Amino acid sequence: MFITLEGPDGSGKTSQMQPLAEAIRAAGYDLVVTREPGGTPIGDEVRQVIMDLNHKGQMHPTTEILLFQASRAQLVNEVIRPALAAGVVVLCDRYADSTLAYQGYGHQTDLATLRRIVEFATGGLTPDLTLLLDIDVEAGLRRRAEDGGQWNRMDAYQLEFHRRVRAGYHELAAQEPARWVTVDADRDPAAIQADLQRIVLERLQGR
Ligand code: TMP
Repeated sequence: MFITLEGPDGSGKTSQMQPLAEAIRAAGYDLVVTREPGGTPIGDEVRQVIMDLNHKGQMHPTTEILLFQASRAQLVNEVIRPALAAGVVVLCDRYADSTLAYQGYGHQTDLATLRRIVEFATGGLTPDLTLLLDIDVEAGLRRRAEDGGQWNRMDAYQLEFHRRVRAGYHELAAQEPARWVTVDADRDPAAIQADLQRIVLERLQGR
């Protein structure tokens, strides 16, 4: 079973990963935990390129889109497909839906084009379950600032961008209700974690 976690920046997604992984393992499942961009030696190098050049503002949006797919193609073929073929559960922090939400809805790149590129990168591998950690944009950015981020430097454009990303996630979830489960992430982390564990273990046990 292939499970992904998605959400806007500051949704607390990454800190929910480890306790969720521990709960899945404690329930007796073999599990591989990974993340995007990255998750393989090559993918981690690609991640560095995306992050470094982004900071300098030099990367063309098309280049960025293709680098996310390069990292993803490597992860799918080196880690995810072999694990699934061996009957191992895979838990991934972000996946193809991040490209649709950020590059598609956020940066307003043509969605049909993005879907074709994503399909090429993944060979059509789609998660069985996608958990959306949903949080109001201002609350998410504030949370990020508390973790040492830069909310004060977020200008109006960036706020609009993050609002489009969140709305995009809502649209993606509405299009495939059997795959997506939305969890309110503007709550105590322990309450969020309890929901995540319940949803995932129910799905795993139902298979
Ligand atoms: P992270 O904060 O979860 O490590 O993700 C890094 C950033 O990369 C985050 O702002 C979302 C963004 N991203 C995309 O824009 N497109 C993608 O396809 C992926 C995987 C991440």
